[in-house]
Amino acid sequence: MSQFRLTRTLPEDATDAALRADVLAGLTSTPKWLPPKWFYDARGSELFEAITALPEYYPTRAEREILVDRAGEIAAATGARTLVELGSGSSEKTRVLLDALTERNGLRGYVPVDVSESALVQAGQALVAERPGLQVHALIADFTGGLTLPDTPGPRLVAFLGGTIGNLLPGERAEFLASVRSLLSPGDTLLLGTDLVKDEGVLVRAYDDAAGVTGEFNKNVLSVVNRELEADFAPAAFEHVALWNAEREWIEMRLRSRTAQAVKIQALDLAVDFADGEELRTEVSAKFRREGVRAELAAAGLDLAHWWTDGGDRFALSLSVAR
Ligand code: AVJ
Repeated sequence: MSQFRLTRTLPEDATDAALRADVLAGLTSTPKWLPPKWFYDARGSELFEAITALPEYYPTRAEREILVDRAGEIAAATGARTLVELGSGSSEKTRVLLDALTERNGLRGYVPVDVSESALVQAGQALVAERPGLQVHALIADFTGGLTLPDTPGPRLVAFLGGTIGNLLPGERAEFLASVRSLLSPGDTLLLGTDLVKDEGVLVRAYDDAAGVTGEFNKNVLSVVNRELEADFAPAAFEHVALWNAEREWIEMRLRSRTAQAVKIQALDLAVDFADGEELRTEVSAKFRREGVRAELAAAGLDLAHWWTDGGDRFALSLSVAR
């Protein structure tokens, strides 16, 4: 008998409170910033889906290539009977992993974790319909906070794919990896997707595509703030900027004010001034090297066991084991 359960560990109004706190902190700072998690309303998720199909945006295709090639090895190396997926979204690229785990290990449980209830319900119900015997226990949760997992059979494999860990700053990554480690028992595993350091031109083009889709995605955060917090940003008054920070080894997306302007955010009773040319940082997307990933995992109590890359060495999947 397959089964679908949904548990909410976020209060209904948590998102609104977090958005208010982030917008207040980020727009009253120098330099100004907003966290990338607010890109993803329905329109932003649609734009991100479009980004993954752009010729310049290689990470999604490179990661899928690795998953297709290595799913059997991943299943064998982990022995996992429960798969926990952080930031599961539509669970699309997880299917190849679910297939291999089911075939080789008799997978029992799938625990997708996401802040989007609609994505969880849609993906979860489709999966249980297709897979008799699979228990899907979806969690509406913010995976950067403290998670409590349902009591599903071990060993557990936690997957965090897409390179999304690159959106966290180094200190946040350390905290995140430690909290992932705390969900695992010794011998349980983490499958982590990381985009790799490479030619600057290739990286910048992936975040500044010729069709302008990434620019639209970047500006969408302004529409989210307009709608949710009654602000009056004019997205056309900002220019999309993507640059490579060679010292930190990360891509930064920014929105550059085309003129001196004042923006009102009514719900916060806040007025924000932008100077002509002033930039607002909207995303950091860190790129990694094997030794750096190994060290960050080790610091959290996770030992790197496998490192798989695509044919072009653009993207890596690492498998690490809880100590
Ligand atoms: C979904 C976080 C992996 O950082 O590459 C795509 C988001 N930003 N284009 C990334 C994104 C601009 C993406 N992640």
